[in-house]
Amino acid sequence: MPDDSKQKNDARARKDLRPRFDFQEHLADLEAAGLLVRVERPINKDTELHPLVRWQFLGGIPEDQRRAFLFTHVVDGKGRRYDMPVAVGALASSPQIYALGMGKPVEEIGSTWMRAIANPIAPVAVSSPACQQVVITGDALREPGGGLARLPVPVSTPGFDAAPYLTATLCVTRDPENGIQNMGTYRAGLKATDRLGVRMVARVGGAGGYLHWLKYRSRKQPMPIAIVIGCAPVVFFTGPQKLAVDRDELEVAGGLAGEPIRKTKCVTVDLDVPADAEIVIEGLIDTSVLEPEAPFGESNGYVALEAYNMPMQVTAITHKRSPVFTSIISQVTPSESSLVKKVAYEPLFLAHLRDSLGIKSVRRVVMHEPLSNLRPVIFVQYAREALRTEVWRGLHGAATLRPECGKIVIAVSEDIDPANTDAVFWSLAYRSTPTEDVHIAPYRRGVQGSQYGPQTSESTLLIDATQKYAMAPLALPTREYMEGARAIWDELHLPALTVKPPWHGYTLGDWTNTWERYAQRATAGDWEQSGEETIARRRSDVTPETPVRKIETLD
Ligand SMILES: Cc1cc2nc3c(=O)[nH]c(=O)nc-3n(C[C@H](O)[C@H](O)[C@H](O)COP(=O)(O)O)c2cc1C
Repeated sequence: MPDDSKQKNDARARKDLRPRFDFQEHLADLEAAGLLVRVERPINKDTELHPLVRWQFLGGIPEDQRRAFLFTHVVDGKGRRYDMPVAVGALASSPQIYALGMGKPVEEIGSTWMRAIANPIAPVAVSSPACQQVVITGDALREPGGGLARLPVPVSTPGFDAAPYLTATLCVTRDPENGIQNMGTYRAGLKATDRLGVRMVARVGGAGGYLHWLKYRSRKQPMPIAIVIGCAPVVFFTGPQKLAVDRDELEVAGGLAGEPIRKTKCVTVDLDVPADAEIVIEGLIDTSVLEPEAPFGESNGYVALEAYNMPMQVTAITHKRSPVFTSIISQVTPSESSLVKKVAYEPLFLAHLRDSLGIKSVRRVVMHEPLSNLRPVIFVQYAREALRTEVWRGLHGAATLRPECGKIVIAVSEDIDPANTDAVFWSLAYRSTPTEDVHIAPYRRGVQGSQYGPQTSESTLLIDATQKYAMAPLALPTREYMEGARAIWDELHLPALTVKPPWHGYTLGDWTNTWERYAQRATAGDWEQSGEETIARRRSDVTPETPVRKIETLD
């Protein structure tokens, strides 16, 4: 891994932060910033590639030290060598990598999303696009080792997955009624050199492509589809984002970029795709049949078992002259797939609670990422003085915005870092009373898929773990003493620290001037003065542990 200080300097040196419209320029930016590892030794895409990158999500590496990987010598289980390099983790291994793709600092990811959704920019059509420098159609799609078999598609979960899967997809479909396009990130497994199995979630609030599929099916027509692999990060980021039905993702991508995205017509289907994409797979989904698809390792951490999904007959593969193939690492979280969703979904929840519901005391919304995969567990952080009625409106708001999100919602106060589950448990332990602060609501939509067992309906758990009355201070040395000691720690070259809040003491409303005076005297070595004061306050009419304030008024 590259030296960290160099990486920070390089990233800072890149003052011209702006989104790249070409995926390979984005890779070059990552490399220049020290955020990309180039692997030149042979790597088996079916057994080694994803497991290698998986280690950086399992191996205790801090989030900001995760890297994109570029494999330049890719082989497969049969020993075949591929001429396309494979990039994994290049879109969203860390917030830094995502932010570089967006051309914004990490802190502006959320506000950039909200601005782009409010101010979409229509794409512009271009001809002679880079994504069609090579066009493969007809028999070339069916010859042994041709068509999809030319692409170095990795097996994501070797040992369980039924096939190599496309994961970094933008699946483009068009509403046959109003002509508006949708782009969603859906998995697609290889079935033949000219056939894929595509899975579009078929539930309430399900995939935009599925809603289109229903319309084509009722018309007894095949559904044209184009799968984009590798494109400008700002375009890709719209695929996993939760946008309103009938909101064209290419326009929102323009909003993210601050300028129109260049689009072009596909060669065999009537769909528009990003002109500067690396690879585009065009085809038709026969809406009269479904084909068994999966097993495939899912982002909820379980293997999705075989289910009937959409078969896509490939009509063309087009690509740049020298494309790079992209794959997203998903399955057990944290992963690239959970990070790409986390940085995009949390701003939507915050805007919903704060701006749509007008709950001004909401400070942050954090979706729990490790293992649980964002959707089931959500934390809402409130200002210390938040009204209880507002806390509960926010709990209900977070649980109802999306049918699949917010099975468990926990409210905490401003001093609790919702990204630190230990701090959340601390708050649950001392700031909530289950009989008063817990509410279970029935009739939540059940999770879907054979991997979840027979349960079909779910419920919602809401917990108010905010601070409800003045509490004694957090018993750590106050900030100035911890900072002073930290400087000595560093001076002594003691082992590197990983710091999570709370790392210093602070008051929580219950503290008097008298006690503050005692504390100041203690640090100044004047504790005997306090002893002189307390000797004058002795009494014989109290029992041990009687709080002084029951007897005396303290200033
Ligand atoms: C790596 C990755 C894989 C995904 N796979 C699927 C999938 O197979 N099917 C699906 O419906 N959604 C999948 N999703 C989630 C969708 O991309 C997400 O729900 C998105 O909002 C769908 O967009 P749409 O509403 O335009 O359909 C995946 C997301 C990521 C990041």
